[in-house]
Amino acid sequence: MPTIRQLPPSVVNKIAAGEVIERPASVVKELVENSLDAGARRIDVTVEQGGTELIRVVDDGCGVAPEQLELALASHATSKIVDADDLFRVATLGFRGEALASIAAVSRLSFRSRPLEAPIATELEVVGGTAEPLRPVGGPCGTTVEVRNLFFNTPVRQKFLRTTQTEMGHLTEALTRLALAHPQVHFTLQHGGRLIHDLPPGEARQRIAALCGQELADGLIRIESDDDGIQLTGDVANPTHSRPNNRMQYLFLNGRFIRDRSLQHALGEAYRGLLLTGRFPVCFLHLQMPAAAVDVNVHPTKLEVRFQDGGRVYSQLLSTLRTKFLSTDLIARASAPPLGSAIDDEIMASTPAASQGLWDWAKRQLGPATGDGRVPDFVPFVDRDQRDVLRLHRVDLPPLVGRAPAASSRAVNIIPNDAGGEGEAAASDPTADYASAAAHRLDLPHDAAQSHRSPRALQIHNRYLVTETDEGLEVIDQHALHERILYEALRERVLAGAVESQRLLVPEPVDLAASEAAAAVENRETLAQLGMEVEAFGGETVLVSAYPAMLANLPPAEVLRSLVEQLLAGGKAPESRDILDELLHMIACKAAVKYGDRLTPQEIDALLEQRGLAQDHHHCPHGRPTALIFTREQLDRQFKRI
Ligand SMILES: Nc1ncnc2c1ncn2[C@@H]1O[C@H](COP(=O)(O)OP(=O)(O)O)[C@@H](O)[C@H]1O
Ligand SMILES: [Mg+2]
Repeated sequence: MPTIRQLPPSVVNKIAAGEVIERPASVVKELVENSLDAGARRIDVTVEQGGTELIRVVDDGCGVAPEQLELALASHATSKIVDADDLFRVATLGFRGEALASIAAVSRLSFRSRPLEAPIATELEVVGGTAEPLRPVGGPCGTTVEVRNLFFNTPVRQKFLRTTQTEMGHLTEALTRLALAHPQVHFTLQHGGRLIHDLPPGEARQRIAALCGQELADGLIRIESDDDGIQLTGDVANPTHSRPNNRMQYLFLNGRFIRDRSLQHALGEAYRGLLLTGRFPVCFLHLQMPAAAVDVNVHPTKLEVRFQDGGRVYSQLLSTLRTKFLSTDLIARASAPPLGSAIDDEIMASTPAASQGLWDWAKRQLGPATGDGRVPDFVPFVDRDQRDVLRLHRVDLPPLVGRAPAASSRAVNIIPNDAGGEGEAAASDPTADYASAAAHRLDLPHDAAQSHRSPRALQIHNRYLVTETDEGLEVIDQHALHERILYEALRERVLAGAVESQRLLVPEPVDLAASEAAAAVENRETLAQLGMEVEAFGGETVLVSAYPAMLANLPPAEVLRSLVEQLLAGGKAPESRDILDELLHMIACKAAVKYGDRLTPQEIDALLEQRGLAQDHHHCPHGRPTALIFTREQLDRQFKRI
């Protein structure tokens, strides 16, 4: 049992000060943290009226000796640090020595404690800051703190309290954070005589299941990494379990729940392209590092911390998740329906917030010359060894049956940097080129690929491809899958600085609105990265001299208009990295086969072939699933065969 001491003013002045008792939830947080610091194995929390009437926390921790009780409730008295240097090696949740004093000042508080070796417990009651004499009482080992009539003497604060339900929501969330951080401790929560949670000690995942639902827990992906003393462990949720805000991002540092913008950003980056715009990943991640590597004395409630080397933590989080995702099957199960029901294949994901970092990432990928050396360096999305495989993307899908001949005759410059002759050949028999590539990939003789007549999937409603798998049945969204493949291929090429551009023999003038023309010329470099070369031609006219070969079957004017629209949609001065990612999405969406497009058997096979080449072929760039699986077991069950 540690000794409680009054902190000298020199230390007090160095402590991040501020009011920490705002509402019942803050009381619960402070009391439970004290119980955890006391080494409790079981913590029972009982509240009445959302905590405004009563909050009782009972623990089986080390307790406080009777002669130290008054000190425990005094201001700036703590057993957790002694001097200012200790502020840099805080290993406990508390250290400010203020919580009990602050609570006692605004409530009727009773603190009853019995250390292990003591025969009885001792109680100290404080009403609005005034202490009653100590009294011996019966009771088990450990500590019981009761807080009644919170803010009874501070009507202003009482006015700020919300409904019982709202306060209970905050309180439950506070306890959830603590319980998730400490699954080895038994927690219970009772409200109005009703048991809300009974969380026996167990594995982290059991705790997540109990607090956040079994379905979420079942789809968790285990994360683990150790980078020279910084350990990252825990779970992240499958992208199908995203949320409309970041509230389900549970990040813990040395057992303390924290909010950290930079780490939230890293998380968003890791899920880039896996989630719909405006959706946030769910995570339960624990960081462990030496206390000296982080300053927890920056925020009164210690919600924010300062890392000694934030960049390193950022990059560890990002690279660990990315590496994990590359080796994880993120496919959506049919039992977990895809997000929303609206099928809008033209969503352009135009929220800039959802598209950050690609540019940084691109710069990093292109070599140290463009980086400033400080940006964290992490595992690239695409394994460099796979470059050669990805080259096969350079062979486009053949033009679709039913397209206007003029459009299909445009689909010529399929292979970049090639002489026109080869393009001509492709134009005369567009499928030939693909078939030979397919044959090459599949190791088939050329004509075997061409004469292949029964596709590996059945197209239904000109939208979905249905195929048999080892597991059961898979339904693929043809547009979403193709969009994903194109998006990745395109991004890969943008990052490698090698987007195929089709040069026009005669530059094409395109008339735009004044603002559009200005935006096009202003963003020339960004457009050039995408294979679109433009120059001002006077007035509102812009000359297009080259455009992305991927969009070979669309008129250049239309491509330019869409790109400019996208540029303008980004707001006043969108960051170039945002623009680039938006444009990649847009191009992929435009270039992909559409809902309603009838596919030839070769095209179906081609699509399925290329699927294996995409790093994440389970989600379209907007984050919608590209395929659903119906397992045989599910079918058997539906047909009442089991
Ligand atoms: N549940 C508890 N079990 C044992 N000791 C406690 C408990 N709650 C508080 N204490 C003691 O009272 C002291 C003051 O608590 P508090 O005001 O919360 O400050 P801090 O936690 O910052 O030290 C603690 O340092 C600790 O020694
Ligand atoms: Mg405390």
